[in-house]
Amino acid sequence: MILYCATTNAGKLREFRLAAQSFAGGRIRVEQLPDLGRIPPCEETGSTFEENAIQKALYYSRLAPGLLFAEDSGLEVNALGGAPGVFSARFAGPAATDEANNRLLLEKLRGIEDRSARYVCVAALAEGGRLIRTFSGAVAGRILESPRGSGGFGYDPLFYYEPFGATFAEVSAERKMAVSHRGQALRQMFEWLAAGAQEG
Ligand code: IMP
Repeated sequence: MILYCATTNAGKLREFRLAAQSFAGGRIRVEQLPDLGRIPPCEETGSTFEENAIQKALYYSRLAPGLLFAEDSGLEVNALGGAPGVFSARFAGPAATDEANNRLLLEKLRGIEDRSARYVCVAALAEGGRLIRTFSGAVAGRILESPRGSGGFGYDPLFYYEPFGATFAEVSAERKMAVSHRGQALRQMFEWLAAGAQEG
């Protein structure tokens, strides 16, 4: 089975493909939507991850030759009232790099003791402009004072996960996927799809 996605984030795409391998044993292949580069990007105007995931899934699934999922995710920092939240990708500006976002996060947390945070992910599955289901996951961690590790993407070098004694950028993609917000949401989605649940 082919499952389309519409992300242009290389880090996410790598994790989507790893999740398909890990959770659906290769029975589901994740492909980018054909001609994605020529499709105007979907607006993300929701105030929650779920709203944005659904908005993207409905928009892109109208243009997909089959089943499609869209995912919205981000980092919520308690001391910042849940920011950057749905603005995680564009925290430091509309086309911000991961480095710029991480720098801004460290600036905002300078001198703040409570560094607790969580990653949240919502995946929405749709076909032909019709929403089928959503799946979600979250993982708690803490924001370090300086980056560690070179794996992962986004805020991973700053996201310290206590049970590993390491940041998400210091562990393998497989270890991160076993516990991450995205791993939890995608595990549910792939297992549900692999069980043929959407056919009923
Ligand atoms: P989206 O593409 O609008 O969902 O933006 C997601 C953003 O949240 C990414 O660009 C990252 O900044 C951040 N993010 C989400 N998941 C992760 C993760 O697993 N690791 C690091 N950063 C993440």
